[in-house]
Amino acid sequence: MKVVAIVGSIRKESYNLKLAQHIQQRYADKFELEILNLRDLPMYDQDIELDAPQAVLDFKAKVKEAHVVLWVTPEYNSTIPGVLGNAIDWMSRVDKVMNGKPSMIMGASMGVLGTVKAQMHLRDILFASGLNSPLLPMNEVYVGAAQNKFDAEGNLTDQATIEFLDKVIENFQNWMRQYV
Ligand code: FNR
Repeated sequence: MKVVAIVGSIRKESYNLKLAQHIQQRYADKFELEILNLRDLPMYDQDIELDAPQAVLDFKAKVKEAHVVLWVTPEYNSTIPGVLGNAIDWMSRVDKVMNGKPSMIMGASMGVLGTVKAQMHLRDILFASGLNSPLLPMNEVYVGAAQNKFDAEGNLTDQATIEFLDKVIENFQNWMRQYV
């Protein structure tokens, strides 16, 4: 099973990136996870969508090849970050690479609610006709107070979160069998 992670933060020390890296390493024997970089994506522009820049084509090709997309996002101002919305706009037009492709969402924030509002919005967005992505039901992953859950080297150290993720990933794998 091939999974791509779309991380909604482009900063180097991103907790969401670290969370995606934890999943990549801990479950390496279960699925291949490639973490995609949103930094190189230009701003979505309808004037150029039919002749999109190579960075957009490359990004969309990676998404298209994957069996499933793992969204790992912070919350910015009570919703998804602009860089993530921008990537979604590209994905929702011309070659609609998310169409029918299953998704799973998780997120880390420094606040206690752990991206709950951003994830609610992302769930709605994935329902839009340009995306049309079925979502892993009943498994919501909110990593709040992330600054207390990773060590200086970027490793997830919070035992409760690690064990919870083990269970969620098991559910995710069982659910995915219907799509792969
Ligand atoms: C934030 N942060 C934040 N946190 C939250 O729980 N709810 C929010 O609405 C916001 N809004 C927000 C806006 C902007 C512009 C920034 C830069 C930050 C804090 C956020 O949780 C924190 O910076 C995380 O560390 C961001 O995720 P990464 O970059 O560590 O993955």
